[in-house]
Amino acid sequence: MRGPVAAVIPAAGRGVRLGPGAPKALRALGGVPILVHAVRAMLRARAVALVVVVAPADGVAEVRALLDGNGLPESKEIKVVAGGDTRQESVRLGLAALPDDTAIVLVHDAARPLVPVETVEAVVAAVRDGAPAVVPAVPLADTVKEVDPAPRPDAPEPVVGTPERGRLRAVQTPQGFRRDVLAEAHEKVTGAVTDCAGMAERIGVPVVVVPGHEEAFKVTRPLDLVLAEAVLARRRAADVF
Ligand code: CTP
Ligand code: MG
Repeated sequence: MRGPVAAVIPAAGRGVRLGPGAPKALRALGGVPILVHAVRAMLRARAVALVVVVAPADGVAEVRALLDGNGLPESKEIKVVAGGDTRQESVRLGLAALPDDTAIVLVHDAARPLVPVETVEAVVAAVRDGAPAVVPAVPLADTVKEVDPAPRPDAPEPVVGTPERGRLRAVQTPQGFRRDVLAEAHEKVTGAVTDCAGMAERIGVPVVVVPGHEEAFKVTRPLDLVLAEAVLARRRAADVF
């Protein structure tokens, strides 16, 4: 698969699980908004020539100003568009802003600011080599139980089963797609799915996993922000010495 690669970064969520404050993508990590880290992470990949940031609908001008003021490379294009009520809707709005010649699309959560460039490039390489849909993923540390969810938060929940841990993977982003495949998935799939690859699966597209990275974790809860600050501090120390 040849042709231009673009990245869509959904960044329109509130970050409810992170607690009260600014929208998650605009919160600081090492003094820089999480979103700016995520944009840089995509632009570091040589193949990525365009990034489409999907901002909160009431925050497009603010996000534009933020990206213009943070010294991002001017050789690459950054568009900002308004997002929707769900991640799926935000991704759809981002895809609509892609130029016609885009051949490969990466979809990357703004909430994964520290994904290493090697992971991004591994995803692009797998799509270039012919996979229509590619997700980076890591093995699980915890055993997973399937339960009958309790109606109340603290009630005990009956266990229904225990999938074999060795066959499970925790999925990260960027997820990479042939552009026509992702567009078709967004046209045809209705109903909620939690990731883009899940939509591709629904229309029968084969999805493959490539190795993800522990530093590509999603900043979701307050403790994740503590971990992200520590990872960034370690990187900065390694750059100095
Ligand atoms: N996202 C989006 N539009 C939405 C909801 C989510 O663009 N309506 C984006 C988020 O900004 C984030 C990514 O999708 O970069 C992954 O979502 P998640 O980690 O769940 O972020 P939030 O939805 O913001 O967090 P929470 O679910 O805790 O509110
Ligand atoms: Mg969410």
